[in-house]
Amino acid sequence: MDPSASGLTQRLAEASQSHLLQFWGELSTEEQLSLTRDLQEMDFEEINGFFRNAMKTSNSSKQEKMDARMEPVPREVLGSVTRDRESLKDWELTGLHCIAQSKVAVLLLAGGQGTRLGVSYPKGMYDVGLPSHKTLFQIQAERILKLQQLAEQKHKIKCCIPWYIMTSGRTMESTKDFFSQHNYFGLDKNDIIFFQQGMLPAMDYNGKIILEDKGKLSMAPDGNGGLYRALGNQGIMDDMERRGIQFIHVYCVDNILVKVADPAFVGFCVQKGADCGAKVVEKTNPTEAVGVVCKVDGRYQVVEYSEITLPTAEKRSADGRLMFNAGNVANHFFSFSFLRDVVQKYEPELQHHVAQKKIPYVDTQGQLIKPDKPNGIKMEKFVFDIFQFAKTFVVYEVLREDEFSPLKNADSQDGKDTPTTARHALMSLHHRWVLNAGGHFIDENGRRVPAIPSLKDGTDLPIKCEISPLVSYGGEGLEELVKGREFHPALMIDELGVHELVKNGV
Ligand code: UTP
Repeated sequence: MDPSASGLTQRLAEASQSHLLQFWGELSTEEQLSLTRDLQEMDFEEINGFFRNAMKTSNSSKQEKMDARMEPVPREVLGSVTRDRESLKDWELTGLHCIAQSKVAVLLLAGGQGTRLGVSYPKGMYDVGLPSHKTLFQIQAERILKLQQLAEQKHKIKCCIPWYIMTSGRTMESTKDFFSQHNYFGLDKNDIIFFQQGMLPAMDYNGKIILEDKGKLSMAPDGNGGLYRALGNQGIMDDMERRGIQFIHVYCVDNILVKVADPAFVGFCVQKGADCGAKVVEKTNPTEAVGVVCKVDGRYQVVEYSEITLPTAEKRSADGRLMFNAGNVANHFFSFSFLRDVVQKYEPELQHHVAQKKIPYVDTQGQLIKPDKPNGIKMEKFVFDIFQFAKTFVVYEVLREDEFSPLKNADSQDGKDTPTTARHALMSLHHRWVLNAGGHFIDENGRRVPAIPSLKDGTDLPIKCEISPLVSYGGEGLEELVKGREFHPALMIDELGVHELVKNGV
């Protein structure tokens, strides 16, 4: 095999990437084949262009803070589960009606590498240690199933919420296998559509593609904003059109509390005639490293904490809340026509963001080096980069403790966004559902556990309580099971009934 015969050597030379063949003579035939295949698929001109643009944008944004150009989200485009309580039921009915008509799809972003969590399999397959040991994928699947049932019961018609799942080259096969092994968690196989986002090579600061092995490029998915390109080149918009989808709920795999296809959020966006909506949680601490949704030069966008100065982050409105408090949780609503316009017209305008990373590489001697400080970049687009193109943009504020607890990191003492915090968030939400439905918990001495746990005993561990999504999507329908009853934790409510696990020795 000769890379010059196929024109590869010349293409690499023209793109200043010839170093990628520096170990050619040392590779086995199989390795040569695999490297050739990878290189032949690549458009080096395009990749070099991405690199130049991304570095340019990154350097100019480092110099200029956004403060003077920012405005907070105006009240008229904002819906809030706490401040607009009187409208909630109506929004929910609208959303449920759209679901019953099979106009709503959900789209899961599951192409990430989960580097911080540090497991070798897709994050959706993670078990955070709930009494049921359900994985994130199973919890989400069961919420979809339940919501379909609720919409069908209400409107007496059969409906379907198609589930589009974006994976990457690294997660596609294992994700598909997992769903197949679990019989699609009771959903119809034909209504779960897997598709794959693109990958890009990691580059050093001079724009040279990094080799992670003598015959292997260092590749990473192109960010969750790689969604828009993937939707186009894998025929997903056509599939949605065939099914008559009009509204799409996009969310991340790692939020254990996610209300998949949340009818109230969908209904709010539909009633407002929005083409794009963002679900947010209130940012309460000025220094919390969360992006905020706001207007910049009159257009909506997410501004990262690092892009503003502390005095702006600390600014407060007359009601005492932070002025820029719409914390982005990567949970969005799109109308079908807006998404199609993005995919067909606007996607090429999106710029890659630069993430500086420690990227393992082989040096010119062929030694594998694991750097201890950043030595290169990964290029990523973000799912929210398209807010700027929306004509009618709305924001929907929900309670963090009810709807947002992402799984990002492995467990550690006092860790943030870990399996433990995710498990606790879900159990404490379900505990509150039981209390709201008129149930009570009692401790080992037969005393009622107060609704607000005291810190006196030195623990702030939640009551162990888990309710299957197949029983309740958002706390509804529990009265007949728990009202006026007392339970010893751990309590599990599933489609087979109400179980006290410890009492039964489970
Ligand atoms: P994160 O940015 O938190 O990345 O993704 P991650 O892959 O989960 O974890 P780290 O940073 O490697 O530790 C937020 C959401 O976006 C998805 C993830 O799967 C997650 O749902 N995502 C991220 C993609 O779908 N594609 C990507 O290229 C990156």
